[in-house]
Amino acid sequence: MCARCHAEEYRSYDDYYHGAAYKAGASDSPACWDCHGSHAILPSADEDSMMADENKVETCGQEGCHTGSGVSFVENAGSLIHQKNEAEDSNPLRQLLSGIRNWFS
Ligand code: HEC
Ligand code: HEC
Repeated sequence: MCARCHAEEYRSYDDYYHGAAYKAGASDSPACWDCHGSHAILPSADEDSMMADENKVETCGQEGCHTGSGVSFVENAGSLIHQKNEAEDSNPLRQLLSGIRNWFS
């Protein structure tokens, strides 16, 4: 539903615990709206966003998710969620392949 417009965020939502599980059909994995909301969706830089630093403990700690999680859990885990591109770019095999590709072009 959200990927219709946010194709890049759908693609990058591929971390092992959330995105990859969601795409594999795990019924307890979070959909876009479990973290971002569905009506008043705000950029994470906005302090009223469910994904603002100030609100992450509450959002991630919601019933059925990471109940009881604290600030350090949220800081460490939160930065992994949409990291597929960065993870791919830092893969040494991929860097080697793109180096070879550049050499031929
Ligand atoms: C019809 C197209 C469309 C759909 C469907 C859609 N969005 Fe958006 N969304 C937008 C546009 C356009 C913006 C504003 C983008 C901007 O300002 O760069 C936006 C902004 C956002 C933002 C803030 C991003 C930013 O940088 O300002 C988030 C988070 C977001 N949408 C999440 C979602 C989620 C989650 C869903 C599904 C429940 C969803 N969107 C469905 C078009 C859509
Ligand atoms: C498990 C929680 C979680 C889920 C599920 C999730 N996101 Fe996010 N999303 C985040 C976090 C945290 C950020 C901000 C940090 C970052 O960019 O990694 C973010 C950032 C974004 C942004 C950039 C604008 C902003 O608010 O920073 C957009 C747009 C977005 N997500 C859309 C989506 C869409 C569309 C989906 C579903 C395919 C989705 N997200 C699923 C946690 C989540």
